[in-house]
Amino acid sequence: MRPFREELLAVAPAAREAWVDRRFGLDGHDGLPDDGPALPAGCVPYLPSSVDVILRMIAEADVREADVFVDLGMGIGRTAALVHLLTGATVLGVEVQPALAAAARALAARLELARVSCLEGDAAELTHRVADGTVFYLYCPFGGERLARVLVALERVAARRPIRICCVDLPLPPCVWLVPDGPGDGDLAVYRSRAVVPDLPLTSA
Ligand SMILES: C[S@@+](CC[C@H](N)C(=O)[O-])C[C@H]1O[C@@H](n2cnc3c(N)ncnc32)[C@H](O)[C@@H]1O
Repeated sequence: MRPFREELLAVAPAAREAWVDRRFGLDGHDGLPDDGPALPAGCVPYLPSSVDVILRMIAEADVREADVFVDLGMGIGRTAALVHLLTGATVLGVEVQPALAAAARALAARLELARVSCLEGDAAELTHRVADGTVFYLYCPFGGERLARVLVALERVAARRPIRICCVDLPLPPCVWLVPDGPGDGDLAVYRSRAVVPDLPLTSA
């Protein structure tokens, strides 16, 4: 069987979204899943990352098999599954909407991806539970105070080991411990951590 990456790249760019949806069994879906009442105020509803942005992000952040990729706001797990199939990385996701978290688990089970998993809950509360991550991905799930809390938690992770943070449509506030990796690529920005902070506990308790 051809490796997944080869198969995907053989598809014309304009046909890749539909190809992935068919391959993942998401094409029978009547449009995008509804966002439910569990989406907290100020948080962004589900919209999948494009295949194009995922390919650029993997290249720019140099995501590899040894990485632990964390999708904060993983939706139905389409990006998580793609990143795992394209790179071999272990993938952890956090999703606040129970119906979407269940869909993400179902997708990983259907594709038999044992190294793709989902934590259900608010990413601002659970970042310390995904502290094994080496690459953190945020497709604009939230901003404001929630994003500030996630950045505090990620600074603690970065005090232990270097991490990359990949943001789509989400400019980060300046952080002394984060360096933009290049000028950015339109909607995508990749940041790398530098160790400027002492070893902090993972939780504030
Ligand atoms: C724009 S979608 C991105 C989906 C996915 N990351 C992707 O790339 O295809 C944002 C997702 O973040 C989720 N989300 C929003 N606020 C959240 C929060 N506080 N904690 C966890 N997930 C959240 C939404 O339910 C939605 O599924």
